[in-house]
Amino acid sequence: MTPNDREQKVTALIDKLCLTQQLKRSEWITVIRERTPAAAEHLFELARAVRIHHYGHGIYIRGLIEFTNYCKNDCYYCGIRKSNPNAQRYRLSEEDILSCCEQGYDLGFRTFVLQGGEDGWFTDERLCDIVSGIRAQFPGCAITLSVGERSYDSYKKLYDAGADRYLLRHETYDERHYGRLHPPALSASHRKQCLWDLKKIGYQVGTGFMVGSPYQTVENLADDMLFLAHLDPQMVGIGPFVPHHDTPFADMPGGTVELTVYMLGLIRLLLPRVLLPATTALGTIAEDGREKGILAGANVVMPNLSPLQVREKYLLYDNKICTGDEAAESLNSLKKRMENIGYHIEVSRGDSLNI
Ligand code: 5AD
Repeated sequence: MTPNDREQKVTALIDKLCLTQQLKRSEWITVIRERTPAAAEHLFELARAVRIHHYGHGIYIRGLIEFTNYCKNDCYYCGIRKSNPNAQRYRLSEEDILSCCEQGYDLGFRTFVLQGGEDGWFTDERLCDIVSGIRAQFPGCAITLSVGERSYDSYKKLYDAGADRYLLRHETYDERHYGRLHPPALSASHRKQCLWDLKKIGYQVGTGFMVGSPYQTVENLADDMLFLAHLDPQMVGIGPFVPHHDTPFADMPGGTVELTVYMLGLIRLLLPRVLLPATTALGTIAEDGREKGILAGANVVMPNLSPLQVREKYLLYDNKICTGDEAAESLNSLKKRMENIGYHIEVSRGDSLNI
């Protein structure tokens, strides 16, 4: 096949995905492996059209509150892994968290995302108290949790306390690849079970993966896309892998902007109504990363609402941006950046169209 034939083949697969919202495994592999800059441009045009059809030019904002960086897990890629002695650990009190929400509300946030490591201090009782406290004070806001793997019962209690949404990346579909990124105590199958549990309980569910994580193959990414099609989540978070100096993957190469935005475009075509953030990791590896993400079909940004003094301690990877336009208090400059590319920020809960 000539390069031209290959490009035509990829373009035809992108068109097929757009029309049918599905591809076979071998087609996913081809559409990812054989991509070219021209095929990517074609993909982004379609992804923007699909996104604009469902969501117009609005961008939803979520206020991210990183409330604990204690974690019992030891994921090889993550800067707040248990065995990193250099991480300065912190946890926010319920009072701190509520005051983040108040500030966020005044800035225009109507979704609060409580994210943390798997910290045993936050028992069901403590976490439910926090969730119901936020629910009582902000009845019109969405509460999203991102606190890792818990039992069905625990997820149910948190849902009954007032949480609406849950983010839990599957990280990688493939068991063997999962095993190369995580210690033996964690498994891909348990992670997936958690996602099905969350869905059954009634949460709006978000999953996702890192792009360019160590040992990731094109086949792994194809399986990730098939898993997304199967789970049909309301939200998908993907971002490039970015090495952290205090982890076993310190010297591994990071993921690229190019492949990350290509995957964003594919996800928009696969799940047309999905809520798709241009993530902090993407904004970290390129100054215009978030704009590129939006122009590839993303429709959510998640500025940081955590108290300033703890922000640089929630360091999942090196150079993670947390002030500047990434900060909730710089919403105005984020607004301008989005307006510069023809989009605008919406003040609303921004629920999925898919519930
Ligand atoms: N690079 C990029 N993303 C990371 N995450 C954790 N560590 C890294 C890293 N080094 C992502 C994981 C996790 C989410 C909270 O952050 O995918 O699910």
